[in-house]
Amino acid sequence: MERSTGNAQPSLAFAFDIDGVLIRGASVIPEAKRALAILEGANEMNWKIPYILITNGGGVSETERCHKLTNELGVNITPSMLVQAHTILRDHSREYADQDVLVLGGRRNGLRQVAESYGFKHVWTPLDIKAWDPQYVTDFSSKRISAAFIFHDPRNWALDIQILLDVIRSRGFVGKVYTYDGTEPPPVRLVFCNPDLLWRSEFPVSRLGQGAFREAFQAVYKSLTGVTYPIVQYGKPTKPTYDFAERMLRQRILELVVYLLALMLISLRCTPDNPESDIAGANGAGWHSILVRTGVYEGGRGSPTHKPTYIADNVLEAVQWAIQREREGAVVP
Ligand code: G3P
Ligand code: MG
Repeated sequence: MERSTGNAQPSLAFAFDIDGVLIRGASVIPEAKRALAILEGANEMNWKIPYILITNGGGVSETERCHKLTNELGVNITPSMLVQAHTILRDHSREYADQDVLVLGGRRNGLRQVAESYGFKHVWTPLDIKAWDPQYVTDFSSKRISAAFIFHDPRNWALDIQILLDVIRSRGFVGKVYTYDGTEPPPVRLVFCNPDLLWRSEFPVSRLGQGAFREAFQAVYKSLTGVTYPIVQYGKPTKPTYDFAERMLRQRILELVVYLLALMLISLRCTPDNPESDIAGANGAGWHSILVRTGVYEGGRGSPTHKPTYIADNVLEAVQWAIQREREGAVVP
């Protein structure tokens, strides 16, 4: 790889995790603003360095999340720079556009609009089924639900597990007798967007994530059928999500190339807080990874389960370390 030295535009790009790196619950991590300002050009070489944000979070539209992130981080974050856990489903909406699908997670029916903005046309939520009255909603016993997508962390695990069981075991016709016992191909596609068992909010210890809901569902399903239900898993560290993110970052770099007219070979750096999802994924994608101590991984309790390229106290140190390596023309291991 050709190395850039001195003030030549670096062949560097970043992918930032959000929770535990830039944001912790409702508060912005102090070093985050400075770190992003450096990439926006506030550095002695006036480099503008491309970056995107990849989160296993979600629950709102990319536009709404970008609006909030822009206010919180003080730099302009646009939808072309943000990969949420469910953003990848944009690529799947065509396949299910004309079919009835169930969308779970988030607050009330908020994710129906997000799913419709991706191209899904017949979107139902557990609250629709709970409120089921053929006169008002629809007669679910005559409507086949072909897929269930867990977009974001469910709020009511008991209701959502019950409804997933009803949908799957009645082969998509809620309210019909159970005819599916797990021995044939799955009648309903079940897609989870975030595998995280734990994530870091401002609460002193990590919180249960969507992955814990998946485990709870599978435990109940197995206790009833003796088997677990085959699922599709997206989100970090899965390869589809890293491939999707890399396409977004290369598109972002192209946007900036037009702006910079100087970029050639790019080496990707990602800065995460969760070894299980972020480092495992980055290593799998062949990216360099810089683990920070402001989130799930705090250090002090042994080395991380997946080896990062470097461990930094926070995102600012991570960015400064990577840029310095770049300036020295050092080959990062
Ligand atoms: O619910 C979000 C959480 O699982 C992790 O988010 O930004 O650290 O990938 P993030
Ligand atoms: Mg994180």
